[in-house]
Amino acid sequence: MDRLTLRRPDDWHLHLRDGAMMRAVLPETTRHFARAIVMPNLVPPVVTGRDAAEYRDRILSAKPKGSKFRPLMTLYLTEETEVRDLRAAADIGLITAVKLYPAGATTNSASGVRDFTKVRRVLENMAQIGLPLCVHGEVTDPEIDIFDREAAFIERVLDPIRRDIPGLRVIMEHVTTSDAVDYVRSGGDDIAATITTHHLVINRNHILAGGIRPHYYCLPVAKRESHRRALVQAATSGDASFFLGTDSAPHTDAAKLQACGCAGCFTATNTLSILAEVFEAAGALDRLEAFTSLNGPAFYRLPVNDGTITLERGDSVTYPAAIDTEDGPVTVFDPGMPLHWRVRD
Ligand code: DOR
Ligand code: ZN
Repeated sequence: MDRLTLRRPDDWHLHLRDGAMMRAVLPETTRHFARAIVMPNLVPPVVTGRDAAEYRDRILSAKPKGSKFRPLMTLYLTEETEVRDLRAAADIGLITAVKLYPAGATTNSASGVRDFTKVRRVLENMAQIGLPLCVHGEVTDPEIDIFDREAAFIERVLDPIRRDIPGLRVIMEHVTTSDAVDYVRSGGDDIAATITTHHLVINRNHILAGGIRPHYYCLPVAKRESHRRALVQAATSGDASFFLGTDSAPHTDAAKLQACGCAGCFTATNTLSILAEVFEAAGALDRLEAFTSLNGPAFYRLPVNDGTITLERGDSVTYPAAIDTEDGPVTVFDPGMPLHWRVRD
Protein backbone atom coordinates (compact mmCIF):
# COMPACT_ATOMS: atom_id res chain seq x y z
CA MET A 1 0.00 0.00 0.00
CA ASP A 2 1.46 3.39 -0.88
CA ARG A 3 -1.52 5.66 -0.54
CA LEU A 4 -3.96 6.00 2.31
CA THR A 5 -7.01 8.25 2.57
CA LEU A 6 -8.41 8.98 6.02
CA ARG A 7 -11.23 11.05 7.36
CA ARG A 8 -9.66 14.32 8.44
CA PRO A 9 -8.17 13.67 11.89
CA ASP A 10 -8.68 15.41 15.23
CA ASP A 11 -6.24 15.91 18.06
CA TRP A 12 -7.94 15.11 21.37
CA HIS A 13 -5.24 16.70 23.53
CA LEU A 14 -3.27 19.72 22.43
CA HIS A 15 -1.36 22.63 23.99
CA LEU A 16 -1.68 25.78 21.91
CA ARG A 17 -0.38 28.25 24.52
CA ASP A 18 -1.10 31.92 23.84
CA GLY A 19 0.35 35.04 22.18
CA ALA A 20 3.41 34.68 19.95
CA MET A 21 3.85 30.98 20.75
CA MET A 22 0.25 30.24 19.76
CA ARG A 23 0.60 32.12 16.48
CA ALA A 24 3.69 30.05 15.66
CA VAL A 25 2.36 26.59 16.58
CA LEU A 26 -1.27 26.86 15.51
CA PRO A 27 -0.63 26.40 11.74
CA GLU A 28 1.29 23.20 12.52
CA THR A 29 -1.97 21.72 13.80
CA THR A 30 -4.50 23.36 11.49
CA ARG A 31 -2.61 22.06 8.44
CA HIS A 32 -3.84 18.52 9.08
CA PHE A 33 -6.33 18.49 11.95
CA ALA A 34 -9.94 19.65 11.83
CA ARG A 35 -10.47 19.98 15.58
CA ALA A 36 -8.46 19.78 18.76
CA ILE A 37 -9.23 19.61 22.45
CA VAL A 38 -7.33 22.64 23.68
CA MET A 39 -5.67 22.34 27.06
CA PRO A 40 -6.44 25.11 29.57
CA ASN A 41 -3.09 25.22 31.42
CA LEU A 42 -2.23 28.79 30.49
CA VAL A 43 -0.76 31.18 33.03
CA PRO A 44 -3.20 32.03 34.58
CA PRO A 45 -5.32 28.99 33.65
CA VAL A 46 -8.63 28.96 31.77
CA VAL A 47 -11.01 28.47 34.69
CA THR A 48 -14.27 30.22 33.87
CA GLY A 49 -16.61 30.18 30.91
CA ARG A 50 -15.55 33.72 30.21
CA ASP A 51 -11.85 32.74 30.15
CA ALA A 52 -12.70 29.96 27.69
CA ALA A 53 -14.68 32.26 25.39
CA GLU A 54 -11.88 34.81 25.32
CA TYR A 55 -9.22 32.16 24.70
CA ARG A 56 -11.33 30.60 21.92
CA ASP A 57 -11.61 34.01 20.26
CA ARG A 58 -7.86 34.54 20.42
CA ILE A 59 -7.33 31.13 18.79
CA LEU A 60 -9.88 31.85 16.08
CA SER A 61 -8.26 35.15 15.23
CA ALA A 62 -4.78 33.56 15.07
CA LYS A 63 -5.98 30.78 12.76
CA PRO A 64 -4.52 30.79 9.22
CA LYS A 65 -6.82 32.33 6.60
CA GLY A 66 -9.23 29.86 5.05
CA SER A 67 -8.70 27.25 7.77
CA LYS A 68 -11.87 25.63 9.10
CA PHE A 69 -10.11 24.44 12.26
CA ARG A 70 -12.37 24.27 15.31
CA PRO A 71 -10.85 24.57 18.79
CA LEU A 72 -12.76 22.48 21.34
CA MET A 73 -12.40 24.34 24.59
CA THR A 74 -11.86 22.97 28.08
CA LEU A 75 -12.07 24.42 31.57
CA TYR A 76 -9.35 23.91 34.12
CA LEU A 77 -10.96 22.31 37.17
CA THR A 78 -10.11 24.00 40.46
CA GLU A 79 -11.48 23.57 43.97
CA GLU A 80 -13.33 26.86 43.36
CA THR A 81 -14.97 25.90 40.05
CA GLU A 82 -18.63 26.93 40.15
CA VAL A 83 -21.26 24.48 39.00
CA ARG A 84 -23.40 27.27 37.57
CA ASP A 85 -20.61 28.70 35.44
CA LEU A 86 -19.56 25.28 34.19
CA ARG A 87 -23.10 24.24 33.30
CA ALA A 88 -23.74 27.50 31.48
CA ALA A 89 -20.56 27.04 29.42
CA ALA A 90 -21.56 23.45 28.59
CA ASP A 91 -25.14 24.41 27.73
CA ILE A 92 -24.10 26.87 25.04
CA GLY A 93 -21.54 24.43 23.62
CA LEU A 94 -18.65 26.68 24.61
CA ILE A 95 -16.78 23.85 26.32
CA THR A 96 -16.37 20.23 25.26
CA ALA A 97 -14.68 18.90 28.39
CA VAL A 98 -13.18 19.78 31.76
CA LYS A 99 -9.57 19.10 32.64
CA LEU A 100 -8.43 17.68 35.95
CA TYR A 101 -4.82 18.30 36.94
CA PRO A 102 -3.82 17.00 40.36
CA ALA A 103 -2.10 20.06 41.89
CA GLY A 104 1.60 20.03 41.10
CA ALA A 105 1.48 17.12 38.64
CA THR A 106 2.88 19.00 35.65
CA THR A 107 3.42 22.32 33.82
CA ASN A 108 1.18 25.07 35.25
CA SER A 109 -0.82 22.72 37.45
CA ALA A 110 -0.43 24.66 40.69
CA SER A 111 -4.13 25.63 40.69
CA GLY A 112 -5.19 22.01 40.24
CA VAL A 113 -7.07 19.81 42.68
CA ARG A 114 -5.61 18.84 46.08
CA ASP A 115 -8.71 17.66 47.87
CA PHE A 116 -11.01 15.64 45.62
CA THR A 117 -13.98 15.97 47.95
CA LYS A 118 -14.03 19.67 47.02
CA VAL A 119 -14.83 18.93 43.38
CA ARG A 120 -17.35 16.19 44.02
CA ARG A 121 -20.41 18.33 43.30
CA VAL A 122 -18.92 19.58 40.05
CA LEU A 123 -18.14 16.02 38.97
CA GLU A 124 -21.67 14.88 39.86
CA ASN A 125 -23.08 17.63 37.67
CA MET A 126 -20.77 16.64 34.84
CA ALA A 127 -21.98 13.04 35.11
CA GLN A 128 -25.58 14.29 34.94
CA ILE A 129 -25.07 16.28 31.76
CA GLY A 130 -22.57 13.86 30.18
CA LEU A 131 -19.73 16.40 30.09
CA PRO A 132 -16.43 14.47 29.84
CA LEU A 133 -13.58 14.84 32.32
CA CYS A 134 -10.06 14.79 30.85
CA VAL A 135 -7.66 13.53 33.46
CA HIS A 136 -3.94 13.97 33.93
CA GLY A 137 -3.49 10.64 35.67
CA GLU A 138 -0.50 10.91 37.95
CA VAL A 139 -0.34 11.13 41.72
CA THR A 140 1.84 13.91 43.07
CA ASP A 141 2.90 12.22 46.32
CA PRO A 142 6.69 12.71 46.49
CA GLU A 143 6.95 9.28 48.11
CA ILE A 144 5.79 7.63 44.90
CA ASP A 145 8.43 6.95 42.29
CA ILE A 146 7.84 9.00 39.14
CA PHE A 147 7.64 5.83 37.02
CA ASP A 148 4.84 4.48 39.25
CA ARG A 149 2.71 7.60 39.47
CA GLU A 150 0.24 6.66 36.76
CA ALA A 151 -0.48 3.20 38.14
CA ALA A 152 -0.83 4.66 41.65
CA PHE A 153 -3.26 7.29 40.38
CA ILE A 154 -5.60 4.65 38.99
CA GLU A 155 -5.76 2.81 42.27
CA ARG A 156 -5.78 5.74 44.69
CA VAL A 157 -7.71 8.42 42.82
CA LEU A 158 -9.34 7.48 39.54
CA ASP A 159 -11.02 4.23 40.45
CA PRO A 160 -12.45 5.60 43.74
CA ILE A 161 -13.84 8.68 41.91
CA ARG A 162 -15.44 6.52 39.23
CA ARG A 163 -17.02 4.24 41.81
CA ASP A 164 -18.26 7.23 43.75
CA ILE A 165 -19.75 9.00 40.74
CA PRO A 166 -21.22 6.43 38.36
CA GLY A 167 -21.84 7.75 34.88
CA LEU A 168 -18.92 10.20 34.98
CA ARG A 169 -17.33 10.02 31.53
CA VAL A 170 -13.55 10.05 31.78
CA ILE A 171 -10.71 10.30 29.30
CA MET A 172 -7.51 9.11 30.84
CA GLU A 173 -5.08 11.23 28.92
CA HIS A 174 -1.67 10.37 27.50
CA VAL A 175 -1.58 6.89 29.00
CA THR A 176 1.93 5.50 29.35
CA THR A 177 1.56 2.12 31.04
CA SER A 178 0.08 -1.30 30.42
CA ASP A 179 -1.70 -0.80 33.77
CA ALA A 180 -3.65 2.12 32.28
CA VAL A 181 -4.33 0.24 29.05
CA ASP A 182 -5.73 -2.70 31.04
CA TYR A 183 -7.81 -0.42 33.25
CA VAL A 184 -9.34 1.38 30.27
CA ARG A 185 -9.97 -1.86 28.36
CA SER A 186 -11.90 -3.36 31.23
CA GLY A 187 -13.58 -0.11 32.31
CA GLY A 188 -16.78 -0.10 30.26
CA ASP A 189 -18.29 2.62 28.08
CA ASP A 190 -17.62 5.60 30.31
CA ILE A 191 -13.86 5.52 30.08
CA ALA A 192 -11.47 6.00 27.19
CA ALA A 193 -7.83 6.98 26.79
CA THR A 194 -5.75 9.16 24.56
CA ILE A 195 -2.29 8.06 23.46
CA THR A 196 0.38 10.47 22.28
CA THR A 197 2.58 10.11 19.23
CA HIS A 198 5.79 10.25 21.23
CA HIS A 199 4.77 7.56 23.73
CA LEU A 200 4.25 5.18 20.81
CA VAL A 201 7.88 5.77 19.77
CA ILE A 202 10.12 6.31 22.79
CA ASN A 203 10.76 4.44 26.01
CA ARG A 204 12.74 5.67 29.00
CA ASN A 205 16.06 4.59 27.49
CA HIS A 206 15.60 7.21 24.79
CA ILE A 207 15.60 9.88 27.49
CA LEU A 208 18.40 8.61 29.66
CA ALA A 209 20.74 6.11 27.97
CA GLY A 210 23.92 7.46 26.35
CA GLY A 211 23.32 11.04 27.48
CA ILE A 212 20.28 12.93 28.71
CA ARG A 213 17.86 14.08 26.01
CA PRO A 214 15.72 16.93 27.29
CA HIS A 215 13.59 16.97 24.14
CA TYR A 216 12.27 13.51 25.05
CA TYR A 217 11.32 14.56 28.56
CA CYS A 218 7.59 14.93 29.01
CA LEU A 219 4.93 14.08 31.59
CA PRO A 220 3.89 11.45 32.20
CA VAL A 221 7.48 10.40 31.58
CA ALA A 222 7.98 7.57 29.06
CA LYS A 223 8.18 4.16 30.75
CA ARG A 224 10.03 0.92 29.96
CA GLU A 225 9.77 -0.82 26.58
CA SER A 226 7.11 -3.35 27.62
CA HIS A 227 4.77 -0.45 28.36
CA ARG A 228 5.49 1.22 25.03
CA ARG A 229 4.57 -2.03 23.33
CA ALA A 230 1.30 -2.20 25.22
CA LEU A 231 0.50 1.31 23.97
CA VAL A 232 1.26 0.37 20.37
CA GLN A 233 -0.90 -2.70 20.76
CA ALA A 234 -3.80 -0.64 22.14
CA ALA A 235 -3.52 2.11 19.52
CA THR A 236 -3.26 -0.28 16.57
CA SER A 237 -5.91 -2.72 17.82
CA GLY A 238 -8.85 -0.68 16.56
CA ASP A 239 -10.37 -0.77 20.07
CA ALA A 240 -12.70 2.24 20.20
CA SER A 241 -11.51 3.14 23.71
CA PHE A 242 -8.19 4.47 22.39
CA PHE A 243 -7.60 7.52 20.23
CA LEU A 244 -5.02 10.13 19.37
CA GLY A 245 -4.24 13.01 21.70
CA THR A 246 -0.80 14.26 20.72
CA ASP A 247 -0.17 16.30 23.87
CA SER A 248 2.01 18.35 21.51
CA ALA A 249 3.46 20.75 24.08
CA PRO A 250 5.72 23.47 22.74
CA HIS A 251 8.45 24.95 24.91
CA THR A 252 11.31 27.03 23.54
CA ASP A 253 14.69 25.35 23.40
CA ALA A 254 15.84 27.80 26.07
CA ALA A 255 13.12 26.48 28.40
CA LYS A 256 13.90 22.82 27.62
CA LEU A 257 17.70 22.99 27.71
CA GLN A 258 18.48 24.09 31.22
CA ALA A 259 19.27 22.64 34.62
CA CYS A 260 15.54 22.24 35.34
CA GLY A 261 13.99 21.87 31.89
CA CYS A 262 10.28 21.92 31.04
CA ALA A 263 8.30 18.78 30.22
CA GLY A 264 6.82 18.43 26.75
CA CYS A 265 7.40 17.05 23.26
CA PHE A 266 6.37 19.11 20.25
CA THR A 267 4.86 16.71 17.72
CA ALA A 268 2.21 18.72 15.87
CA THR A 269 4.42 19.10 12.80
CA ASN A 270 5.22 15.46 12.02
CA THR A 271 2.62 13.46 13.95
CA LEU A 272 0.78 11.95 11.00
CA SER A 273 3.97 10.78 9.27
CA ILE A 274 5.15 9.19 12.49
CA LEU A 275 1.82 7.49 13.19
CA ALA A 276 1.66 6.04 9.68
CA GLU A 277 5.14 4.59 10.20
CA VAL A 278 4.18 3.08 13.58
CA PHE A 279 0.94 1.60 12.25
CA GLU A 280 2.67 0.26 9.14
CA ALA A 281 5.33 -1.45 11.26
CA ALA A 282 2.52 -3.05 13.29
CA GLY A 283 0.75 -4.22 10.11
CA ALA A 284 -2.23 -2.05 11.06
CA LEU A 285 -2.41 0.77 8.51
CA ASP A 286 -6.06 -0.12 8.00
CA ARG A 287 -6.69 0.86 11.64
CA LEU A 288 -4.97 4.24 11.55
CA GLU A 289 -8.20 6.03 10.65
CA ALA A 290 -10.02 4.61 13.68
CA PHE A 291 -7.25 5.96 15.92
CA THR A 292 -6.90 9.41 14.36
CA SER A 293 -10.40 10.16 13.11
CA LEU A 294 -13.21 7.86 14.30
CA ASN A 295 -12.80 6.68 17.89
CA GLY A 296 -12.39 10.17 19.35
CA PRO A 297 -15.59 11.64 17.90
CA ALA A 298 -17.48 8.51 18.92
CA PHE A 299 -16.46 8.86 22.56
CA TYR A 300 -17.06 12.61 22.59
CA ARG A 301 -20.42 12.06 20.85
CA LEU A 302 -19.49 14.41 18.02
CA PRO A 303 -19.82 13.84 14.29
CA VAL A 304 -16.77 12.66 12.38
CA ASN A 305 -15.22 15.24 10.07
CA ASP A 306 -16.46 15.62 6.50
CA GLY A 307 -13.18 16.05 4.69
CA THR A 308 -10.31 13.61 4.17
CA ILE A 309 -6.54 13.70 4.02
CA THR A 310 -4.33 11.49 1.89
CA LEU A 311 -1.01 10.05 2.95
CA GLU A 312 1.49 8.86 0.35
CA ARG A 313 4.43 6.55 0.84
CA GLY A 314 7.66 7.41 -0.89
CA ASP A 315 11.31 8.19 -0.31
CA SER A 316 12.06 9.48 3.10
CA VAL A 317 10.24 12.57 4.30
CA THR A 318 12.05 15.18 6.33
CA TYR A 319 10.75 17.88 8.61
CA PRO A 320 12.43 20.99 9.96
CA ALA A 321 14.41 20.29 13.14
CA ALA A 322 12.69 23.25 14.79
CA ILE A 323 10.05 25.86 14.12
CA ASP A 324 10.76 29.53 14.71
CA THR A 325 8.76 31.57 17.15
CA GLU A 326 9.20 35.14 18.34
CA ASP A 327 10.26 33.66 21.67
CA GLY A 328 12.94 31.42 20.09
CA PRO A 329 13.08 28.03 18.35
CA VAL A 330 10.87 25.09 19.36
CA THR A 331 12.45 21.74 18.52
CA VAL A 332 10.25 19.32 16.59
CA PHE A 333 10.11 15.80 18.06
CA ASP A 334 12.72 13.55 16.44
CA PRO A 335 11.25 10.05 16.07
CA GLY A 336 14.74 8.61 15.55
CA MET A 337 13.66 6.58 12.55
CA PRO A 338 13.22 7.28 8.85
CA LEU A 339 9.73 8.43 7.88
CA HIS A 340 8.19 7.56 4.54
CA TRP A 341 4.60 8.78 4.69
CA ARG A 342 3.83 12.37 3.78
CA VAL A 343 0.50 14.15 3.91
CA ARG A 344 -0.40 15.28 0.41
CA ASP A 345 -1.26 18.98 0.28
O1 DOR B 1 4.87 16.95 28.96
C1 DOR B 1 3.91 17.64 29.28
N1 DOR B 1 3.81 18.93 28.90
N2 DOR B 1 2.94 17.09 30.02
C2 DOR B 1 1.94 17.82 30.52
O2 DOR B 1 1.13 17.27 31.19
C3 DOR B 1 1.88 19.28 30.29
C4 DOR B 1 2.61 19.66 29.09
C5 DOR B 1 2.83 21.14 28.99
O3 DOR B 1 1.89 21.92 29.19
O4 DOR B 1 3.95 21.54 28.66
ZN1 ZN C 1 -0.90 17.85 28.02
